[in-house]
Amino acid sequence: MKIAVVGGTGFVGLTAAVGLANKGHSVFCVGRNKEKVSKISRGIPIIYEENLEKLLNKALETGNFLATTDLKTAVKESDVSFICVSTPSGESGKIDLKQIEGASAEIGKALGEKKSYHVVTVKSTVVPGTTENIVIPILEKFSGKKAGADFGVCMNPEFLREGCAVSDFLYPKDTGIVIGELDNKSGDVLVEIFKEFDGEILKTSLRCAEMVKYARNSYLAKDISFANEIANICQNVGVDYLEVKRGTEMDSRIGKGRFLDAGVGFGGSCFPKDVKALFAKGVESGVKPLMLKATLDVNDQQPFIVIKLLKQLLGKLRNRRIAILGAAFKPGTDDMREAPSIRIVNAILSEEAKISVYDPVALENARGIFGENVVYCEGVEDALHNVDACVIVTEWPEFAEPNIYSNMKGKVIIDGRRVLDPGKLPSGFVYHGIGLPEAVKT
Ligand code: UDX
Repeated sequence: MKIAVVGGTGFVGLTAAVGLANKGHSVFCVGRNKEKVSKISRGIPIIYEENLEKLLNKALETGNFLATTDLKTAVKESDVSFICVSTPSGESGKIDLKQIEGASAEIGKALGEKKSYHVVTVKSTVVPGTTENIVIPILEKFSGKKAGADFGVCMNPEFLREGCAVSDFLYPKDTGIVIGELDNKSGDVLVEIFKEFDGEILKTSLRCAEMVKYARNSYLAKDISFANEIANICQNVGVDYLEVKRGTEMDSRIGKGRFLDAGVGFGGSCFPKDVKALFAKGVESGVKPLMLKATLDVNDQQPFIVIKLLKQLLGKLRNRRIAILGAAFKPGTDDMREAPSIRIVNAILSEEAKISVYDPVALENARGIFGENVVYCEGVEDALHNVDACVIVTEWPEFAEPNIYSNMKGKVIIDGRRVLDPGKLPSGFVYHGIGLPEAVKT
């Protein structure tokens, strides 16, 4: 099938465009930024994502992938378009739909000049009712055509995790594929595309598909905040959260593999934004979303637990040297959007301590956020050289390796993700972490 991916230079758009091309579809990857489009055309994927570069180049070689700024031609020459533009948090957490509105207007204009049937699909995360109340009226206004009669409309939420987005897209076995459809005819076109993918397909209404995305992310974010709250209580009542977690997971109704790793809180481009947006939509709909509020409140305070632990072990932080290990919001990505590292670094800086930061891939993004206020280190040993303490903020596998800490001057480690086994550290260290009742001396 011929497919236009609008917003193709973003994380979701590019992943979808490359994934669809590798499934044999003919893809127009449409972006507005000429420089980004040109890089993608030359096989440079502009974001860090496992396997993306390889598969982008494979798609370019086969000739069924074209990066372009020409939205009109892309829509006119394709059967389906996916809207993948971003929907950031606007005023008081409410979703900002400017880019969705802009893309819908442009696609509408192209539809006005198109004779054959075309299905417009919203892939961006949008609150329930957006496709019906905003996207469709704009498409109809700018095309002069009628949705359902003249063109199709679908809503197909993405469930991509950063760091493994390409494989999540290509193998949706664990997430399934949700197709919200305006009518059967529209949905059947998407089924035709996704039937080759190994994942269960669920057809729903447009509104339901929109809500599924928020419900999923809110469930997962809620689990993390719940785990963090339990861990914080464990810490104060003298039990280790990791053992409690093992014990609770034995109950099959709770189970393993849930989002129950306690730490410094969730970040990223989805959970914080989506929980805020659903909260705002809930309030607007007349519900008091108490669980969503608690999820956000716990997450807001969670990064500061490591500051409390640092102070417990070091006393005043003024003029102390602290290494921050990990800046990205999670391993496997250079993304720092809403990363807990931002709050942690700012809190430590406000105590007038000195900071060295190391992250295997996110240093460039860290520079854009922390500027000249911290020292950036190319290697973990550099970051740990001459510091009084270190804080593990992101669970990159290399931080679980006890040998990297051997040459630390001050031997204090605060583990914000509980990745390090203190039993394996050389003697002389003081180790503390989230959900641990007291510091462990090695
Ligand atoms: C998430 C969803 O998993 C994905 O399905 C959706 O499409 C987009 O949002 P992502 O933001 O890439 O994906 O990261 P994820 O792996 O879910 O982690 C999000 C945050 O939660 C990270 O900061 C991570 O460190 C934190 N987290 C995750 C925990 O603190 N504890 C956990 O048990 C799991």
